Amino acid sequence: MLRTHTCGELRLSDVGKRVVLTGWVSRIRDLGGIRFLVLRDRYGETQLVVTPESSAYEKAEELGREYVIKASGEVKSRPQDTINPKIPTGEIEVYVDEMEILSPSKMPPFYPGEEAKDDLRLKYRYLDIRGGKVLKNLELRHRVTKSTREYLDSQNFLEVETPYLTKSTPEGARDFLVPSRLKKGNFYALPQSPQLFKQILMVSGVDRYYQIARCFRDEDLRADRQPEFTQIDIEMSFVEREDILNLVEGMIKKVFKEVVDVDLPEKFDRLSYEDAMNLYGSDKPDRRFGMEMKDLTEFFKNSSFKIARSVVDNGGFAKGFVIPNFSERMSRRLGDEFSNFVREFGLGGIVWFSLKGGEITSPTKKYLEKEYIDISRSLDMKEGDVIVMAFHRDWEELCTGLGALRIKIGQEYFKHLEKGFDVLWVVDFPFLEWDDDENRWVARHHPFTMPVLEELEKFKNDPGKIKALAYDIIINGYEVGGGSIRIHNREIQEKVFDLIGLTKEESIEKFGFLLEAFEYGAPPHGGIALGLDRLVAIIAGEKSIRDVIAFPKTASGTCQLTGAPSKVSEKQLKELGIRVEVKE
Ligand code: AMO
Repeated sequence: MLRTHTCGELRLSDVGKRVVLTGWVSRIRDLGGIRFLVLRDRYGETQLVVTPESSAYEKAEELGREYVIKASGEVKSRPQDTINPKIPTGEIEVYVDEMEILSPSKMPPFYPGEEAKDDLRLKYRYLDIRGGKVLKNLELRHRVTKSTREYLDSQNFLEVETPYLTKSTPEGARDFLVPSRLKKGNFYALPQSPQLFKQILMVSGVDRYYQIARCFRDEDLRADRQPEFTQIDIEMSFVEREDILNLVEGMIKKVFKEVVDVDLPEKFDRLSYEDAMNLYGSDKPDRRFGMEMKDLTEFFKNSSFKIARSVVDNGGFAKGFVIPNFSERMSRRLGDEFSNFVREFGLGGIVWFSLKGGEITSPTKKYLEKEYIDISRSLDMKEGDVIVMAFHRDWEELCTGLGALRIKIGQEYFKHLEKGFDVLWVVDFPFLEWDDDENRWVARHHPFTMPVLEELEKFKNDPGKIKALAYDIIINGYEVGGGSIRIHNREIQEKVFDLIGLTKEESIEKFGFLLEAFEYGAPPHGGIALGLDRLVAIIAGEKSIRDVIAFPKTASGTCQLTGAPSKVSEKQLKELGIRVEVKE
């Protein structure tokens, strides 16, 4: 090694030692002829001192920020008044008598660790990572995967790699395609997940599989979505739902304990999909804000307020939630803002009242006073409380719109509650959902999920009511993972394909290999995949998963560092038998 110590290592106990440090010059100061340098590496920062008497003095004058140097000298304790308690090496400094420039640096477009525009940070990602925040996150990510691997290894799991060049798997997003040179006109698809391979591994007798697997989905990007992302992908044979939930609880608890020393609850709460929607208006609730929604339909059954009455009379619903201690903030204007917000979700608007000075205050008081009094009593509302309510014919839309408003209010006005980790399972999902664009039922999780078999028959004519043996794990309002017990029987699998409108020919063309495998002894099995990027971002307290990925893509799917995607040469295209015609 070119160094004897790292920049984060030296302490008072090292005083008197001769040391050699290497790293980047992160700061340069000149005080009365003495040069003070701060040297940085992955492990920390150490102050270097170069006096005019030092034989390294001239070299030190050539330095600029971000130069890579090797410096030798003696460790000395800092004078009392210059001790820096903020850094672990703050009690010492190294008096340098020999210095070598290992690599100079041009003036960077921004200094590591300092503010810069996002696209610049991504273009010069190495400077950004060097700055420390992303580096810390990469370290954290490493510890999460290490802890995960150790746990799964201790539970007898085998890490098995599955192909990247494969056939389209239907997770609901668009595929990335790779043209084949040897079979011109044919394409591989990059896997949206290893779903089918992991199921085939169960038929192969692997019994317990996992993989820290890269997945590829060509979908619109958001803060919690990247076109390539990583899953902790798990599959187990001879299990029931409970076994998988227990396994994952053990894993998550170990990771949180080891990585951030947080004790999560012994058992994670479970909410059915229906309860999650009813209480929080979301299948990935963030419960830290409280403000659970209540069904208020009964209060409007005999209402003289026409809008509410007609919704309720026609089988619709009324729901609302109490915002504690909010009457000082609430106003007609804010009410209008909330109304406009829920209109984007298809609702008509909101009504609200607050309890102020023992009185009901509301723009709609004259129409709804009796209802408001009954509601405030029944919900035991306190002085200062505000309730927002909405009426709508469709339960799911009503829950979703109000749930989104609940989160908006939480994030804008109750930020201080956004701390700690709220972990729960959402279970008992509907098996199917109606796809308006395609005009057919589609699988809510994926079509290899086991439906509740009795319901498959019972709700033959109302398939929206069939439930799935599927589950999601939610942390702080993010879907961190999802999985299910799988179908392991050809007949049931074919029935499901039929339900989602796949013809026999299509299902054989696409998934014939899976259907065939099921005929050679398939064990009952199930599994889950956790989004590693999301998990790490939540633990790190980052809003965007970009900050926990070394080389992420921008919202338009480009890699600013390399410039991908880019044009390829005519020769490459010719070899692939491809002619490009660009249509805007
Ligand atoms: P699913 O599609 O729910 O399930 O994905 C599992 C988890 O992966 C994460 N995730 C993403 N993370 C970042 N960017 C994306 N574009 C992205 N898409 C998904 C989420 C999600 O919960 N094969 C099934 C799992 C199974 O049934 O075992 C699957 O992929 O955290």
